Amino acid sequence: MFQPAYPIRTARLTLRPVTLADLDDVYAWQRRPDVVRWMLGAEPRTREQSRASVLAIAGEDALRAEGDCLTLAVVADAGVIGAVELVWRSRRDRTAELGYVLHPDHGGRGLATEAATALLDWGFTEFGLHRVFGRCHGRNDASARLMRRLGMRQEARHVDSYLLRGEWADQLVFAVLDHEWRGRADAPVRTT
Ligand SMILES: CC(C)(COP(=O)(O)OP(=O)(O)OC[C@H]1O[C@@H](n2cnc3c(N)ncnc32)[C@H](O)[C@@H]1OP(=O)(O)O)[C@@H](O)C(=O)NCCC(=O)NCCS
Repeated sequence: MFQPAYPIRTARLTLRPVTLADLDDVYAWQRRPDVVRWMLGAEPRTREQSRASVLAIAGEDALRAEGDCLTLAVVADAGVIGAVELVWRSRRDRTAELGYVLHPDHGGRGLATEAATALLDWGFTEFGLHRVFGRCHGRNDASARLMRRLGMRQEARHVDSYLLRGEWADQLVFAVLDHEWRGRADAPVRTT
């Protein structure tokens, strides 16, 4: 079993597993159409749907087997303002997929970047990943900018490759390798 030492602390944030006590905060972003706009299979949730979602992700506190998802609440002074996740895609290839969401009230301050940096740092330095990739809708500019800020390279644009709400969508693929991560210019953000 692979699990960070909780909590992970950064300059402005704490990352730790989600609990049912976070329901109000999680619902505050899951209910918003602007948050789920570019997400495949995601629609604005009712409070009951958010409750089911929180119960599911509350168990995602460790990577036990290939296919598992590690989901961490992004906690700031205002409470839980978002979440970051790593999906263990391949044990053999030491590959994971990055995901993230931030309540729009807290966007534009680099907090998603800070949280994702800490999770990637754990993934590469402690979990021993070789490659982390991320995917987003071709028009999800904020997501693409975030991956570029993290030092991920755009590897592909799969044109009209999937249907999102009845319309063909491009999918962008970004990735970063362990040696690229270790060689990046930015200093690590973890403080413990
Ligand atoms: C993707 C998402 C997390 C990005 O949020 P964000 O607020 O743009 O990202 P950050 O918190 O890292 O903030 C970065 C922005 O703050 C600015 N910023 C201010 N201070 C900063 C700092 N100290 N460090 C870094 N950036 C800073 C950056 O310039 C950047 O702005 P820009 O993109 O206009 O250039 C957010 O848009 C979101 O949750 N979207 C909905 C869910 C979603 O689509 N998830 C991805 C599915 S693929």
